[in-house]
Amino acid sequence: MKIAIPKERRAFETRVAASPDTVKKFVGLGCEVLVEKDAGLAASFTDEAFVAAGASIAKTPAALYKDADVVLKVQRPMAAEDGADEIAQIKKGTAVFSMLQALTSKDYVGKLAEAGIDAFAMELMPRISRAQSMDVLSSQSNLAGYKAVIDAAAEYNRALPMMMTAAGTVPPARVLVMGAGVAGLQAIATAKRLGAVVYAFDVRAAAKEQVESLGGKFVIVDEEAMKNAETKGGYAKEMGDDYKKKQAQATAEQAAKADIIICTALIPGRPAPVLITEEMVKGMKPGSVIVDLAVEMGGNCPLSEYGKIVTKHGVILMGHANVPGRVASDASMLYAKNIWNFVSTMIDKETKALKPNLEDELVQGTLVCRDGKVVHPALAAEGGK
Ligand code: NAI
Repeated sequence: MKIAIPKERRAFETRVAASPDTVKKFVGLGCEVLVEKDAGLAASFTDEAFVAAGASIAKTPAALYKDADVVLKVQRPMAAEDGADEIAQIKKGTAVFSMLQALTSKDYVGKLAEAGIDAFAMELMPRISRAQSMDVLSSQSNLAGYKAVIDAAAEYNRALPMMMTAAGTVPPARVLVMGAGVAGLQAIATAKRLGAVVYAFDVRAAAKEQVESLGGKFVIVDEEAMKNAETKGGYAKEMGDDYKKKQAQATAEQAAKADIIICTALIPGRPAPVLITEEMVKGMKPGSVIVDLAVEMGGNCPLSEYGKIVTKHGVILMGHANVPGRVASDASMLYAKNIWNFVSTMIDKETKALKPNLEDELVQGTLVCRDGKVVHPALAAEGGK
C-alpha cells in the first residue's frame, strides 16, 4: 500500500500529516511512504528525517499522487476554486484522511464523491474512550489553548506573575478564560503556570470542577440553567435569552477587571457565541489583551479580526488564524499520531491493504464518501448537496 504525504498549500498552514515517527511505523507495517519535497519543513521535519524513517521524497505533486492508495492531509484537498486543484490530482479509489469540515461543507463533500475519493473526516471522530488517541480536535485545541496564553503574554506590556522587588511589587495578571473545554482548560493551566490569577466561564456544569482542579476560579452565571446546558456528546447547547443576559452582566464585571481574556467558546455547527461586546471592550483597562480563538467561527468578540492583531479602544485584539499551526512541530507530531492510531487499525495484516470495517463506529462516524457516493448519515440524506 502506498501512502502519500502532500505539502499543505492552504494559507496559514504550517503543519504536516505525518512525522518521521509515524512514517517509521507505517513502513514497519509494510507500507510504502512517499512524502512531497519540503512537506515537513515548516514543522521542522526535514526531508532527510523522513528518508531516514524509510520514506521516499516526491519532487512534484503529480509524482506524489500518481500511485497513491492513501493520502494523509491536515487541511482538506483544495478544489479548483481554491487555486491549485488538488482533488483533480488524486486518483479515483484513493482513501483520503484529513480534516474536511464536512458537516458544514456539503457541496465540497459532493465534489470528493464525484472524484471517486473515499474520504474520512478526522474532525468527526466519535468522542468515545476508544477513540481518544485519534481525536484531532482535542490534540490541536490543547496546543491552541497553550499558545493563546503565550501569544497574549508576548503582547501584554506587563508581567504575568506577581513579583516582589526592592523597587516595588508587580501584581499578578488577571486572566479571564471564556469557555473551559479542551483549549480553555489548557489556557487556564498555562496561565496558572505563568503565575496569573485565573477566572473562567462555561455554560456546562461539568466544567466547574475541571476549572477548579487547575486552580482557576469558576464564575457561576445561573446554576439551574447550567444543569441542562450540555448535549449527550458533551458539547454546549445554545443558551436561552435569560441566561445570555445574566452572562453578559457577569462578563462585563469580569472583563473590566481582566488584563488578558482568552476566548475559546464554541457551539458545534453554529457561529461562535458573542460574549465580549464592544461596550465590554470599552470598559477594559488600556493595554489589556484579548485572544479570540473562536475567530474562525465568527469570534467571541465582534471586534477581533481573522488573521490580524488590531488595537481598538486601547485593547489589543489577537485574531491569529490557525493557532495550532503556530506550534507546528508539536501540532504535526500529535496530529500525525492521531492519524496513525486510526489508519493502522484498518491495514489488513495479510494483504497490507487498507480494509476499513464498515460496521465499526469509528469508520461510520468519519467516512463521508465512498465509491462515488456520499455515505455519512448526516450528509447522505440530502445527496451531498
Ligand atoms: P468546544 O470547542 O466545542 O467549545 C469550547 C467550550 O466553550 C466548551 O467547553 C463549551 O461548553 C464552551 N461554551 C460554549 N458556549 C459558551 C458560552 N456561551 N459561554 C461560555 N462557554 C461556552 O468544546 P471542546 O473543547 O471540544 O470540548 C467539549 C466537551 O467535550 C468537553 O466536555 C470535553 O471535556 C469533552 N471531550 C471529550 C472527549 C472524549 O471523551 N474523548 C475528548 C475531548 C473533549
